Amino acid sequence: MNESLVKSRAFINGEWVKTNKRFRVDDPFSQELIVEVSDCGEEEANQAIEAAHNAFQTWSKTTAQERSDKLLAWYDLIIENLDDLAEILTTEQGKPLKEAKGEIQYGANYIKWFAEEALRIDGDIIPSPDGQKQIHVIKQPVGVVGIITPWNFPQAMIARKVAPALAAGCTVVIKPAAETPLSALAMAELSLQAGIPKGVINLVPTSEASVIGEAITSSSKVRKISFTGSTKVGKILMSQAAENVQRVTMELGGNAPFIVFDDVDIDDAVEGIMASKFRNSGQTCVCANRVFIHETIYQEIVEKLTNKVESMKTGSGLEDDVSITPLINQAGIDKVKRLVQSAKDKGAKVIVGGNVSDKHNQIYEPTILTDVSFDMDIACEEIFGPVLSLIPFSNEESVVEQANATKAGLAAYVYTDDRHRIKRLSEQIESGMIGFNEGIISNHMAPFGGVKESGMGREGSKYGISDYLDIKYLCIK
Ligand code: SIN
Repeated sequence: MNESLVKSRAFINGEWVKTNKRFRVDDPFSQELIVEVSDCGEEEANQAIEAAHNAFQTWSKTTAQERSDKLLAWYDLIIENLDDLAEILTTEQGKPLKEAKGEIQYGANYIKWFAEEALRIDGDIIPSPDGQKQIHVIKQPVGVVGIITPWNFPQAMIARKVAPALAAGCTVVIKPAAETPLSALAMAELSLQAGIPKGVINLVPTSEASVIGEAITSSSKVRKISFTGSTKVGKILMSQAAENVQRVTMELGGNAPFIVFDDVDIDDAVEGIMASKFRNSGQTCVCANRVFIHETIYQEIVEKLTNKVESMKTGSGLEDDVSITPLINQAGIDKVKRLVQSAKDKGAKVIVGGNVSDKHNQIYEPTILTDVSFDMDIACEEIFGPVLSLIPFSNEESVVEQANATKAGLAAYVYTDDRHRIKRLSEQIESGMIGFNEGIISNHMAPFGGVKESGMGREGSKYGISDYLDIKYLCIK
């Protein structure tokens, strides 16, 4: 392990800053202290905003090539340190090491992608109606960006936001989740080594998220907020951001329908359900939350899923071949327990699992529930745990209606061989992303984001940089 990557202080203006207060970061598997981290408050948040504001004056004027080169240097260092970064991630977050390695590569891909996109921030020249003038369009960085990231992807969500911000010429103040600040701090250390100038990236770990959220949203120097997390907190941030008319990118909660029609390759569909549901032990915004299976193939799919789920290994993320690891904290366990219990009370059947593991109090057994119905909380709330809720359906029209009967609209999945149905459902399903015959859809080249209460703005892809750029119109005679 490269020990220089294990940092415990705030990162402000290129310096590692000690604070009076500290908070614990615990390993969710051993439940022991990993390290105590600087606990930032309003004062540190304001220092970080000031540093980002000052750095913006020069970073925004660098050439696209300079910004691209710095981002590529950062990417190279992340790849060089991939194994160590993955170990830090698994230790603080819990996910299997193989998934942690996948996350580091996934996050790094955004950095490389936006290093390349920096070179393609182009404008336009448009003819004017009277032919006497030219309409020029240029793009400029929006300014300082406040970035608030979740614990479920502590490295990739930072990369997905910071990379387009820096590529556009913005500077950032990041508040990582209290549960997982170490991956973020390691990324900051590598940004320093990559030569990203001081003040361009600032990072304020805290145990009091709302204090930093308020400091960021109440500052007129912060011109944009990018948040990934719950819809509840997203709404609070949006209302606070209104005060200074800060732009917002919101990637909020989901309630993904996963629909399997009767014309599919059943084994393929089962693989897709498993991959979508159990990634990160079910702690993703895009994972299958309600699995609708055509009634004619329902029983066969239940049996195949049961065989797969029964053979899943639970344990520490550092063990070989483990698929289900601890949930992030006791609150996560309590939520899954409540949802499963209330579903059982209303008639759902537990086919596999249904309990906290007897080996570990923060591991919830991979679970299959059948006979789930719409009056159950488990069909309405984001589960964020390894529980498959299976619901039979009989026809396309009714399943589309049920799939859309939620305020969320992040991801959806449809397994079918019928290309006409694919065309119909592409338009009818209310979500920002749809996986057709695919259970894992996230990658740096695609636009990630939701509709309805799942948020606004897109991350990744050629669209992901536009949220960090202002369009300026110049009328030239
Ligand atoms: C999330 O769960 O918030 C992100 C998942 C992903 O990037 O695939």
